[in-house]
Amino acid sequence: MAVHQAAAPAVKVSEVSMVFGGGAPAVDRASFDLRQGKFLTILGPSGSGKTTLLRMIAGFLKPTQGEIMIGGRPVDALPPHRRSIGMVFQKLALFPHMTAAENVAFPLKMRRTDPAAIPGRVARFLDLVRLGGLGGRRIDELSGGQQQRVAIARALVFEPELLLLDEPLAALDRKLREEMQLEFRRIQKELGVTTINVTHDQREALVVSDEIIIMDGGSIRQHASPSEMYRTPASEFVARFIGVSSLIPGIARSDGLICEGVALAGTLSAGVSPGRPAHGVIRAEQIRISGSASAPAGCETVCEGAVSDVIFEGDRLLYAVYVPALSLTLQVYHHDPGSNAVYQAGDHVSLGWRGADMFVFEARSREGHQKSKEEDQ
Ligand SMILES: Nc1ncnc2c1ncn2[C@@H]1O[C@H](COP(=O)(O)OP(=O)(O)OP(=O)(O)O)[C@@H](O)[C@H]1O
Ligand SMILES: [Mg+2]
Repeated sequence: MAVHQAAAPAVKVSEVSMVFGGGAPAVDRASFDLRQGKFLTILGPSGSGKTTLLRMIAGFLKPTQGEIMIGGRPVDALPPHRRSIGMVFQKLALFPHMTAAENVAFPLKMRRTDPAAIPGRVARFLDLVRLGGLGGRRIDELSGGQQQRVAIARALVFEPELLLLDEPLAALDRKLREEMQLEFRRIQKELGVTTINVTHDQREALVVSDEIIIMDGGSIRQHASPSEMYRTPASEFVARFIGVSSLIPGIARSDGLICEGVALAGTLSAGVSPGRPAHGVIRAEQIRISGSASAPAGCETVCEGAVSDVIFEGDRLLYAVYVPALSLTLQVYHHDPGSNAVYQAGDHVSLGWRGADMFVFEARSREGHQKSKEEDQ
């Protein structure tokens, strides 16, 4: 009988921790598997341990605890230049006095590639990043976005098993950054190289990734596909980290939350029981808004409020609406700024949402959270 063995994951991180000095762990028992050819983004606030985790995967830092395997082999068994890992970091570290082509050729020379094969390979990768014809330019004669492309070509030219990206786009302006995000995705798909990308930018994570890991305080909070992360966040932290949302404190009930004596429709997440202090999280795009005379259709919860602020974002408006019955302000997106229904500060409006769209999580006080961490240790 044929035995079907699942292929080993391209990257396997098992219970990995990093403690610098005597402080709290920068990475705390992180575990995940990544399959060949997948694009994973590690997302999290500043200081959450993203770069530390990436540096351990690259083999630059040895974990205090745990093990990292790439292609089934422990990563620290090989010196950095013998590992099959391409890297692009925020600081590109290109050689400014060399041409684009010389920069791209560099890793091939380091790896003692047949010199006759180098020019063809360099030209192919410059074409891949759409720099064909600019190979003879010095780095300091190229724009920021073009330099970024040289760095990508240099990271990929030796056809590594794994590509690691640590916020390489952070320094670019928004438009170029968005173009380069799509470019990364195109190149990654074309070559099928397994990729781990680190970013603060939740939009980038949703757009480019097959999988997302959210980190906070050194721990992995959730590992899921972009749509799963968006639709079924595992915690209040994850729900609030992706997109613009409002928090509604109250007491959980079986079909939502009671806030200031008002019952609001919502969906209870795992671990929250009726009668317990809870937080409702509702995304700005899930709240519908209409004039005060007509309640939004199809909503289980409807409440009245007054617009306190309007931010024009081009393709949409973001309203802050004060709801007196709840004694709080909700953030509401409105996606049709060309329509007549544009409200001004002071206007009375109706807001509504469906129970499926408000997540209800157990309320954990900051002290409670701290305490449970201490108990863990
Ligand atoms: N070499 C080091 N020595 C001591 N502490 C460090 C070192 N490198 C990182 N840290 C600490 O580890 C924690 C995680 O840092 P890390 O650079 O991994 O965060 P990050 O998620 O990449 O943040 P950012 O988004 O700001 O780049 C931080 O508290 C940081 O101060
Ligand atoms: Mg970092």
